[in-house]
This record gives sequence, structure tokens and C-alpha cells, in this order.
Amino acid sequence: MPSNISSSSSSGNNASLAKTWIRGFDSLIGGGFPRSSFIILAGHPGTGKSTFAIQFLLNGAAMAKETGIYASFLEREEIFIRNMSKSYGFDFKKPLEEGTLQFLEFTPMAPDVVSDTFNMIVKRVIETGAKRLVIDSLNALFVETSPAEQRRILEIVLNRIIKDQGCTVIAILEQSIGKTEIGFGIEEFVADGLIVFESYIEGLEIKRRAIVRKLRGMQHSSRYQSILLNPNEGISFLQLAE
Ligand SMILES: Nc1ncnc2c1ncn2[C@@H]1O[C@H](COP(=O)(O)OP(=O)(O)OP(=O)(O)O)[C@@H](O)[C@H]1O
Ligand SMILES: [Mg+2]
Repeated sequence: MPSNISSSSSSGNNASLAKTWIRGFDSLIGGGFPRSSFIILAGHPGTGKSTFAIQFLLNGAAMAKETGIYASFLEREEIFIRNMSKSYGFDFKKPLEEGTLQFLEFTPMAPDVVSDTFNMIVKRVIETGAKRLVIDSLNALFVETSPAEQRRILEIVLNRIIKDQGCTVIAILEQSIGKTEIGFGIEEFVADGLIVFESYIEGLEIKRRAIVRKLRGMQHSSRYQSILLNPNEGISFLQLAE
């Protein structure tokens, strides 16, 4: 079992849940994300959003042989993989060779190509039968897109990727420190789940914490958890003391 995988969870595939196998997380959300759900992972810079998202895919590939696609609008594949390997020792070689992890790299979007880009992602999900998709990030994708176009694209995600293909989608939303609203407004409304990662200062130290704001159809924790980022493990969660 890879070292970044929770040993308290059982292995194998569960028909109704997409487990993350991230230590301390699945138990917060009733065992895993409901399959075919649209999850928004919103959070401050440097809180571990991309780490969480890539572990969701790497663990799905290692534990359930599920294909995962990482659609990156922010970071180049080569640099992303190098940094994640260096920080946490993740092994990308096997899933990339097997095709259970696929990286799609895009540059920030001009409004007229957003639609084509999305069609490309849909096509790849269909071709590979991917069961997990990460979009990093919606802000970069929607940088100059009108609310009407955003709504149309989210409908494509919901219908063609999630409903028709049974894919579970994690879309990352970058949140500026000090801003109270989470995203553009429509994404949280259409999402089945909303997980928020925050950074805050305690004494002289930056700390990170996470909370599950909503997860339709599941009983989930309503408490903040500490986010831990460890070399050789990646992200994990721990109940935050009162
Ligand atoms: N081995 C490690 N131990 C502790 N912290 C680490 C380690 N490796 C990376 N980090 C921290 O993890 C954070 C980056 O994680 P990640 O890229 O997943 O966050 P993010 O929320 O996606 O950030 P961004 O806003 O830049 O997209 C950085 O703040 C970095 O300092
Ligand atoms: Mg990131």
C-alpha cells in the first residue's frame, strides 16, 4: 500500500462512493464522495488544494484502478509532477505509464476557446472511461468568461461528464485571503459538495484548517479539521482541538 494511503480504510471499489483514501478525510464525509457528484474545493493560497486533488486521483488509481484526469490551467505538467514528487515522494511513474493518471495542461483561457477546451476534456473522459476528474482551477478556466457562458459550461460538466459518464469531479476555486465570498456565485449553487480550506495566523505561525460546508445526501462533519502536509504522505486531516 502506498504510504500516502489511509491504512484505516479498506481497499477496493465501492459502487456508490468515491473514496479518497486520504488519512482522516473519508470518515468526515460518511465514507467517501457520492459517485457522480460535483465537488467544489475552495480555499486560500497554499493550503493544500492541489495536493488533495492529486491524491484523490493517485489513490483512486492505486486502490481501485480508476482512471483520473487532472486538467490543469495553472501549472505545467512537468513542474507540477516534479514539485509534488519532491514535496511528498508521490510516485507518478506507474499510473502515468498505465494511463490511470492523465494530465491535461492548458494555458489560462481566452473566452472564445473555453468551449473547445471543455469539449476536449469531455472527449478525454469518454475515451478513457475516467471516473475522477480534477479541474485546477475554475478561476483560471473562467478568467474572462461571462456568467451565462459559465453556466453553460457547468451544465456540460454536470450532464456529459458527471451524469452520463458517472465521473466524480473536484473543481478547485481559489479564494483570496480576506475575501468573504467563496467564488463567482453560481458554482457553489450547482455543486453537490463544498469543502473549504483556510489559512490563518495563530501566534507567529500560519496554520491551515478545513471544513465541509455541504455534501448533499451525506451526513458529514460540521467541525473544522487541521490540515497536515507531511513529506512522504501528503495531506491528512486531524480533528482540531476546541
Ligand atoms: N513536505 C511538505 N511539508 C509541509 N508543507 C509542504 C510540503 N510540501 C509542500 N508544502 C506546502 O504545501 C503548500 C502547497 O500545497 P498545494 O500546492 O497543494 O496548495 P494549493 O492550495 O494548491 O496552493 P496554490 O494556491 O498555490 O495553488 C505550500 O504552502 C507548501 O509550503
Ligand atoms: Mg494549487
